Amino acid sequence: MREPLAEFDWKPPTRVVCGRGCVARLGELVAAEGCGRVLVVTDPGLTAAGHPRRAVESLERAGIAVVLFDAVDENPTTADVEAVRERSAAEQVDGFVAVGGGSCIDAAKGADFLVTNGGEMADYRGRVGLERPLLPLFAVPTTAGTGSEVQSFALIASEATHEKMACGDPSAAPRIALLDAELCASMPPEITATSGLDALTHAVETAVTRARNERSTPYSHAAFRLAARAFPRVLADGDDLDAREDMLVAAALAGVAIEASMLGAAHALANPLTRALDVPHGLAVGLLSPHVVRFNATEPATRSRYAELGRLLPGAGGDTDDAVEALVGFLEECLTTSGLPTALSAWSLDDDAVGPLAAEAATQWTADFNPRTVTAADLAALYRAALDPRRS
Ligand SMILES: [Fe+2]
Repeated sequence: MREPLAEFDWKPPTRVVCGRGCVARLGELVAAEGCGRVLVVTDPGLTAAGHPRRAVESLERAGIAVVLFDAVDENPTTADVEAVRERSAAEQVDGFVAVGGGSCIDAAKGADFLVTNGGEMADYRGRVGLERPLLPLFAVPTTAGTGSEVQSFALIASEATHEKMACGDPSAAPRIALLDAELCASMPPEITATSGLDALTHAVETAVTRARNERSTPYSHAAFRLAARAFPRVLADGDDLDAREDMLVAAALAGVAIEASMLGAAHALANPLTRALDVPHGLAVGLLSPHVVRFNATEPATRSRYAELGRLLPGAGGDTDDAVEALVGFLEECLTTSGLPTALSAWSLDDDAVGPLAAEAATQWTADFNPRTVTAADLAALYRAALDPRRS
């Protein structure tokens, strides 16, 4: 007897164009979608690196008028989105081009909701239905992490509470994503590490969630296989364009998996750490991921799904216990190799702070999708394990 298949409804919304130098095709692709005046949304660091200039040149060669907005912050807030909305409304653009990491893509995505359908960002929490169509959004990621370039959700922090709101609609995924590894070569080592840990954690969490299904699992596995080989290489040599390209593709594949399967406890635990202590998102999920795998692996079905991932690692054995250990060991090694802090004790977090953070983690949407039910007490135990992993 086989397990009944989960129902699904699938029309991939984003065309993905991948290749070295493919940002040169941006103008032609945007023009073909009928846009004539676009807002390029990026950040000041990327402007200094010259990436938006390559995008703007391609757009202008195709006869598209370009307005530049290059003031997006690292973790976009409702105020950032409002600034993008104001500019796009004032300039009467008919499309958005986001050049940057998940922050730039999410800021453009959020502004698209507001400029076309009005209201404020909090009105779009969860998966909403829109009254009016969005403007086309084109995404050119310069980091390999969030997968926002293929997703229908934007993560926007409330300016007042710093709470991260997931705002989405099935039509909000970018129309086209261009994956050009040349734009990743200048990524600083710390961003390479944190974004890579995020992509890896997406692959691992999407492979086991309650919502995972027959269409998401192959994406999770393909993302994990690529990232497992490429992540150590991009850490060792940021100019390795083959490895950069593998990470870009891995992040996008994991992003596709998230659309179907959502995420799990590592993401639920990470959000309060980012809000309260400014722990970068990718580092937070990377720190917690080995502990969450050990916690979830006590359930036999989840254990065998983790073992499937473990067997994708070079040299890993076929035995379930060995494969799960290989997976945990690999995730720990990635964290160590990244050169980032490997324990939460690196932040001013003591035992007293754990309870309130765990209570907050229990309210996160992603906690509901974790394969093993997690209570606030479980989440507190996971924080404590990550405070000083030598004790666990
Ligand atoms: Fe993430």
